[in-house]
Amino acid sequence: MKGILLAGGAGSRLYPLTLVASKQLQPVYDKPMVYYPLTTLIEGGVREFCLISTPQDLPRFRQLFGDGSQWGLSIEYREQAHPQGIAQALRIADTFIGSDPVTLILGDNIFYGGDSFHRAFADFRSGATIFGYHVNDPERYGVVEFDAEGRAISIEEKPARPRSNHAVPGLYLYDNEVVEIARNLQPSARGELEITDVNLEYLRRGALRVCRLTRGFAWLDAGTSSSLHEASAYVQTIEKRQGIKVGCPEEAAFRRGFISLPEFEKLIGRLPRCEYRTYLEAVAAEAHGA
Ligand code: G1P
Repeated sequence: MKGILLAGGAGSRLYPLTLVASKQLQPVYDKPMVYYPLTTLIEGGVREFCLISTPQDLPRFRQLFGDGSQWGLSIEYREQAHPQGIAQALRIADTFIGSDPVTLILGDNIFYGGDSFHRAFADFRSGATIFGYHVNDPERYGVVEFDAEGRAISIEEKPARPRSNHAVPGLYLYDNEVVEIARNLQPSARGELEITDVNLEYLRRGALRVCRLTRGFAWLDAGTSSSLHEASAYVQTIEKRQGIKVGCPEEAAFRRGFISLPEFEKLIGRLPRCEYRTYLEAVAAEAHGA
């Protein structure tokens, strides 16, 4: 399965933080925000990526990740010159997707905990898989409604009167039909190619699976100054308590077998002396002992 990382947008809600660095490059505790969604996809087994961002920000992401080979990945880059909605990413990346299934993740979505994603990636065969997460403020999101049997019956984008408390997080798995669905999409009233309309088309075709994320699972928002701060505090709390990092692509690539232990150690050797390096050294030492 191929992976699209969408890291576009002006980040206006984080002004002036975003004057010179895009939202997805802001620190969430000890690493750039985009490390978290990238790690989520690596943990799902994705190795081939297309990162989409604005023409101004793209060079920064290239600097950060290069071609991805140091982590056993391949990463290519595409511009979203005029942002016209999340589903536009599927059009921009159509030649990258080719004839494969694809997963799309938003560069500001931070997930932690459970094995729901792991299972969703492993079980994915066809159609679309999206998720439902109970939130306090569903009107800010795509909202999915379930019937008594737990089947999804409606999805609405930012409804004034939400039919449920289940928001749809920014992680979507699609079969290759999505290329044609995205091509035929019409802009919504607000002038955007809505990802919710893609999901509705799968629902109409009877090919949409909605997995409900359980209580213990964290989906964090980092789109405003205070939620960015809260996300940092959350990550710090978990990391300090457990001694395990959240959103560490080097570790995820190693654990997934995308890079060997010698390759992992070689890349650690290139890092400056810092707490991040010390952590990775401990992961490598543990692997030697195992
Ligand atoms: C977008 C989607 C929405 C989804 C959300 C998840 O909203 O349109 O359906 O629930 O991402 O983060 P936006 O972040 O563009 O407001």
